[in-house]
This record gives sequence, C-alpha cells and structure tokens, in this order.
Amino acid sequence: MFEESLYLTDLNDSVALGKEHAIPLGGVPVAGSGVEVVLEDVTFRYPGAEKDALRDVSLTIPPGKVVALVGENGSGKTTLSALVAGLYLPTAGRVLYNGVEIRDADRETIFDKIALLSQHVQAWPMTVKANVHIGDGRKPLVQEDVEAAAERADVRKIVEELPHGWDSIAMKGFERGVKLSGGQWQRVGVARVVYRGRVLNIVDEPTAALDPRAEIDMFESLHGLTADGVTSVLLITHRLAATASADVIYVLNQGRLVEAGPHRELMDIDGGHYRELYELQASQYDTTANAKVPTQRA
Ligand SMILES: Nc1ncnc2c1ncn2[C@@H]1O[C@H](COP(=O)(O)OP(=O)(O)OP(=O)(O)O)[C@@H](O)[C@H]1O
Ligand SMILES: [Mg+2]
Repeated sequence: MFEESLYLTDLNDSVALGKEHAIPLGGVPVAGSGVEVVLEDVTFRYPGAEKDALRDVSLTIPPGKVVALVGENGSGKTTLSALVAGLYLPTAGRVLYNGVEIRDADRETIFDKIALLSQHVQAWPMTVKANVHIGDGRKPLVQEDVEAAAERADVRKIVEELPHGWDSIAMKGFERGVKLSGGQWQRVGVARVVYRGRVLNIVDEPTAALDPRAEIDMFESLHGLTADGVTSVLLITHRLAATASADVIYVLNQGRLVEAGPHRELMDIDGGHYRELYELQASQYDTTANAKVPTQRA
C-alpha cells in the first residue's frame, strides 16, 4: 500500500496540471451543425522541451472536405491533430472553432463535434461490440449501428466469423477471448470513429497496418464520410497516393507549414517538399533502373 500510495501524488499533480492546460467547461458554446477550424499562427512547445514542436502554423479545415496532413516523422502531425482536437492548447497563437477561440469555448460542445482516432488504437479487453460502441459510449449501444459502422470500416465480416461473433472478448486468455491482428484493430478503430458519427473526424495514420487492398477501401470509406457536404476528415498519412484525392494537403516540415494546396498544385512546385516526398515514394514502386530501393545484400 505504501508503494502504491506514492503514485497518488503523481495522480493529483497530473490532474491539477491537466486542469491548467484544458479548455474550460461552461464557456461559449460552439454553434452550427458543421465546423470550420482555423489555426492562426499557432506555436506549440511540449513542457520541458528545448524547441517548438510547431511554429507559426496557420491553416483552415473547412467543413465537408478531406484535408490531408503530411510530413516526415517528427514533423509535428500528431501534435497538430491534438491542437485541432482541443487536447492541447497552443503556446502562442489561436485555434478557432466556427469563430470561437477554444480557450473561451465550452469544452463539451467542441468535443461533441469531434471523433479522434489516434495513431495507436486503444485495444480494450472488452467485447468487440463494446470496442466499437466506446466511440460513443455515453449513448446506449445500438447493435445495428455498430454493425453499420463495422461494415463501413470493412470489419463486419471479420467479426461475424469469429466463434462468438460480436460477443468475443478482444483479448486472448479470457473465455471467448480472441486475438485481433494489428490491421483488424485498426479497422475496429475506424469503426469506432464511424459509429461516433461526428462532423470532424481526425484520423492519425488509420491504414499503417492495412494490406494494399484494405487500404484503398479504407480511404474510400473515409472520403465517403464527407458526402453530406458537412462532415470533414483530417487525414494524417504517409501514403501519398491516398493524399492525391484530398481536397487540400498541408505539408509540415520540422514543425512549420511549408506548403498547402491540392495534389496537382503541390506537384507543380519545383523543388517542393511534397513533390520530393511523393517522388521518393513513387520511385520505390519503380521497377526500372531509376528505382530508389534498398540495395540487396549479396
Ligand atoms: N509528449 C511529448 N513530449 C515532448 N515532445 C514530444 C511529445 N510528443 C512529440 N514530441 C516531439 O514533438 C515533435 C513532433 O512530434 P509528432 O509526434 O507531432 O510528429 P509526427 O509528425 O506525428 O511524427 P510521426 O510521423 O512519427 O507520427 C517531435 O520532435 C517529437 O519528438
Ligand atoms: Mg504522428
């Protein structure tokens, strides 16, 4: 008990620190069915870090569009997504939700507009059904909606073929326990987002573990979410073939926004960062002598 109680101070400290950095409750409600998120000169530095993770980033995520966020490892994509989602507050600059600065906004009305799938899908040791329902866990579970969401995320058949179907426990070792693969978990994660059914969907590398066919289907499903003209998708991905169809692409490099526009425009920039990343990736599939693939060892 003594050992465990030492952690209580840490818990209290982190709750206090969390309060300091969170959007307050009971501020200005964010009105409107859709949402436009605007970042104005946003800079962000992690506590204790020596340099900014993001520096003077200004961008807009309009309603009804697919917005892609690309850049190399560590360029700040996940950090930016957390700022858009209101999980972090900027060190400098402003984040506006339909014109309301998030520091003044009501936290609940902001979070109510968002579905966030983080880079590492949380795998809960509960039934597969509950793992989808937790996307909107405050509402009673509606089995048809769980199935419809799973259908869109291409995981329905996989679940229904499990020995205990939707009631399988997503962890080996339990009675009715199953082990889902990395790609299957990723689909469950997307199903969670679809089930939540909010107007701003932030998905951080939702296809990293998917096979090529599943990946194409997943991008199509995500694009499909914007068909109502209101719902938007902020898609973070390293697969640049998928960003080609995004309405707008934002390119981050070392915490700065270096390029913005649709694929065609970015490909026209001589010496552009996006074009360089795209061509580097395309060359991996090149079977001619120009291919930039790892050299084979003898
Ligand atoms: N919790 C944290 N505390 C301190 N520094 C962090 C933290 N999370 C990220 N960073 C730093 O912030 C920078 C941006 O990281 P971020 O995770 O946003 O990059 P990313 O573009 O999502 O990379 P990846 O493609 O690898 O997912 C990096 O330099 C990283 O080391
Ligand atoms: Mg990341």
